[in-house]
Amino acid sequence: MLFSALILTTSAALAAAQLDPKEVCKTAGACLRIKEFYAIEPADQKSADHTAIEFNIVNDNPQFGASAECEADWPYGTQGWPQQSKTCSVDAFSFYVNGFSDIDQDFVIEAKHGYRDPSVAGPPTPGRAPQDFVTNFARGNVSKETVECETFGVSYKFCHLKEDAEILLPIYARTA
Ligand SMILES: *[C@@H]1O[C@H](CO)[C@@H](O)[C@H](O)[C@H]1NC(C)=O
Repeated sequence: MLFSALILTTSAALAAAQLDPKEVCKTAGACLRIKEFYAIEPADQKSADHTAIEFNIVNDNPQFGASAECEADWPYGTQGWPQQSKTCSVDAFSFYVNGFSDIDQDFVIEAKHGYRDPSVAGPPTPGRAPQDFVTNFARGNVSKETVECETFGVSYKFCHLKEDAEILLPIYARTA
């Protein structure tokens, strides 16, 4: 698989991605999870301040579990949010943002988690590194279902997860 990515996910798993994320994510390792989420921006349109988002993302896969802190900030009122994968606190995780208009409006977080899984490498080929790197692609909604926002006077808007809420990002593809 030197030039083309091998799709490892089964059609059953892809079909599952269409189901209720809460059901799909009952299986450990089926989803990435955001367990802490913060977003802040100036409430004053004239401000030269930044919009910022920050979250903790977890893969609870029993064998390849891991987590990272991800963050991005950009000048308020610009389209400076990550539109291409931005690496998180550990290289294994990256993310970008889709459909963003404001921190208190729905948007989508697209995330990737990669790791080495020797079981996918196939028989060793002399002179070639084992093709054992698996990438998981996951997608989840930042919405009123899980996130609430408050405005503090004229100075800033602040959003965070509701009590006991988490953002679920079902894994919709897995490549090696
Ligand atoms: C995201 O929102 C869409 C539209 O409301 C919904 O169909 C989908 O299941 C949601 N995905 C997740 C991971 O919550």
